[in-house]
Amino acid sequence: MKRRNIVAGNWKMNLTVAESRDLVSAVLAEIGAGFCGCEVGVAPNFVALAETAGALESSPLFLAAQNCHFENDGAYTGEVSARMLLAAGCSHVIIGHSERRQLFGETDAVVNRKVSKALQEGLKVILCVGETFDEREGGITGDVVTRQVRAGLGGIAGIADLVLAYEPVWAIGTGKTATSEQAQEVHALIRKTVGELYGAEAAEGLRIQYGGSVKPSNAAELFAMPDIDGGLIGGASLNAADFAAIVRAAC
Ligand code: 13P
Repeated sequence: MKRRNIVAGNWKMNLTVAESRDLVSAVLAEIGAGFCGCEVGVAPNFVALAETAGALESSPLFLAAQNCHFENDGAYTGEVSARMLLAAGCSHVIIGHSERRQLFGETDAVVNRKVSKALQEGLKVILCVGETFDEREGGITGDVVTRQVRAGLGGIAGIADLVLAYEPVWAIGTGKTATSEQAQEVHALIRKTVGELYGAEAAEGLRIQYGGSVKPSNAAELFAMPDIDGGLIGGASLNAADFAAIVRAAC
């Protein structure tokens, strides 16, 4: 049986609180009656979380944060903890996004600590992995992604509350999407790697999202691949009609 698709809009560092509330209202109106029961969520910036949680109340959409720290509280200026996210209404958190890794120096070890803490506190985790353009050109995509998966999951006992997201860095915000075959190849490798760590049954149940220039025009083809279980959407998630069209493609 095909796994239930999961689509999340990663709004990145965009939108004020009021703009976030407006977008979520527009998304709910667009998805509305046609909502098919695939899992759908949005990830606004930290300051917009609480307000967006209110706007999502009694809707089927989940609320995700884009990052969290690996401690509950303390002298970590500028950071936000998993516990705080839960209290603000989040059920999910994105961890290890390539922008966090590339622009903010997050290593595999830091990503692993965050995954561990978020799960321990009761958040569901969307763990991102993906190779850079140079790594793909250098023929080491498989090595990089396998390393990120193994390191990110180091010491994690179970993956029931985890979703993986494969986001090739060269496809993020560039308009260049991986072909569905390129994406499928890496997704299958990720599932195989997870199977080696947690067994075939757990790997079979794991959802693996694709992210990187997903649009209404390419979503259906990507989501039709056997190991692609929905998407993590950046730019297109800022437009309610486009995001809703992508959600429908995941139905
Ligand atoms: P784009 O859809 O804008 O390429 O971003 C993908 C992404 O990074 C989602 O997390």
